Amino acid sequence: MADAYGADDHEELTTERIPAPGGDDPSLVRSAADDLERAAEAALRPRRLEEFVGQRVVREQLSLVLQAALGRGRAPDHVLLSGPPGLGKTTLAMIIAAELGAPLRVTSGPAIQHAGDLAAVLSSLDEGEVLFLDEIHRLARPAEELLYVAMEDFRVDVVVGKGAGASAIPLSLPPFTVVGATTRAGLLPAPLRDRFGFTGHLDFYSSEELERVLVRSAGLLGVPLAADAAAEIAGRSRGTPRIANRLLRRVRDWAQVRGDGTLSLAAARAALEVYEVDALGLDRLDRAVLTALCTRFGGGPVGLTTLAVAVGEEPETVETVAEPFLVREGLVGRTPRGRVAMPGAWAHLGLTPPAAGNTLFG
Ligand SMILES: Nc1ncnc2c1ncn2[C@@H]1O[C@H](COP(=O)(O)OP(=O)(O)O)[C@@H](O)[C@H]1O
Ligand SMILES: [Mg+2]
Repeated sequence: MADAYGADDHEELTTERIPAPGGDDPSLVRSAADDLERAAEAALRPRRLEEFVGQRVVREQLSLVLQAALGRGRAPDHVLLSGPPGLGKTTLAMIIAAELGAPLRVTSGPAIQHAGDLAAVLSSLDEGEVLFLDEIHRLARPAEELLYVAMEDFRVDVVVGKGAGASAIPLSLPPFTVVGATTRAGLLPAPLRDRFGFTGHLDFYSSEELERVLVRSAGLLGVPLAADAAAEIAGRSRGTPRIANRLLRRVRDWAQVRGDGTLSLAAARAALEVYEVDALGLDRLDRAVLTALCTRFGGGPVGLTTLAVAVGEEPETVETVAEPFLVREGLVGRTPRGRVAMPGAWAHLGLTPPAAGNTLFG
C-alpha cells in the first residue's frame, strides 16, 4: 500500500536526521544542536518529569494530563510543546513516553516528504504509542491534512492505485498520542493547533534553574563543579539548558587540560574567555555587531544592511543569528529607521554614550 505514495522505503526516509539550522555554526552560544552534540546531550537528558528542572507550570499541567490518562488506562490527549530551541521539548517528549510506559516513535516535519510517509508511520503505530513529531510546523500540507484526521478520528485514508482508478480505503488506528514540538507555534495552522488537547509553552530558564541543570549534568559527567562556577556558567547561558550544558563541557575540557580537573570559578572564567563567551553570553559576532553599532554609527539608527557590511556578515546572519538575543537582552532596539543601541549596550561595552541629543536615548 505504501507503493501508491511512492514511498516504499519509508523506514529510511522518515527517520532521516535533518541538521538543525545553524548546526554547523562553530559558536558556543547558538541554541541549535548538531548531530555530534545530540549524542552528548542524550547522556544528560532527564528521564522522568521529576528530574526535569524548572518550567514549573508546564510540568504540573503535564503531570496532571499524564496521571489522569494513566488512571483511566487510556492514551492521553495530544500534546503540543512550543518554545525556542534548546529548552527541553525533545526531552519532554521522551519523558511523556517514559511516564506513560509507552513506546516512542520519533520523526519530524522535514523528514516526512510525502503524506504517504506519514500514513505508513501512523498505520504501524501500536496502541498507546507516543508519536513525537519534531518541527511539526514544517510538515508538508498534504501530510498535515492527513494528520488532522488521524489525530481526531484515529483513522487514516490509505490510497490504493493511481490516477483516476485510485481509491481511498479508510483504515482505523488504535488510540495513540501525538507529541508535536515547534519553535514557531504561530506558524501552525489553526485546525492543526486545535487538535492538541494540551499545549505547553516553554520559557527561558532563570539563572538559578540553569545552575540546577549544571549541577545535575556535572554529577552525571562525574566532574566536580564549584557552586560559584555553576553560577558563572549559568549567567552566560542565555536562559538555555542546551547552551549551559555545552559551556559546561568546554569548561570541563579546560579544567582537564590546563587546570587540575576541578571546575572552579577561575577555570570557568578562563575557559569562557578562551571561547570568547562574555559575561552576558555574547560571542564574537554579537559583540562585533554591538561595537559597530555604538562606535561606528554613534548608536544608530543604522540600517541592517549597513550594519552587516560593517561586521563583514550577511544581513540575514546578523538578523537571525546575532540580533534576536541582543534585542531580547535589551541591548539593541529595532526602529522604523534602523537599529539603535540601547543604554545597556554602551554599559556592556564599557563605553560612554554620546551626549544627550545625539542618540534616541541620549
Ligand atoms: N528542564 C531541563 N532540565 C535538565 N536538562 C534539560 C532541561 N531542558 C533541557 N535540558 C537539556 O538541554 C538539552 C537540550 O534539550 P532538548 O530537549 O533537546 O531541547 P529542544 O528539543 O527544545 O531543542 C538536552 O541535553 C537536555 O538534557
Ligand atoms: Mg528538539
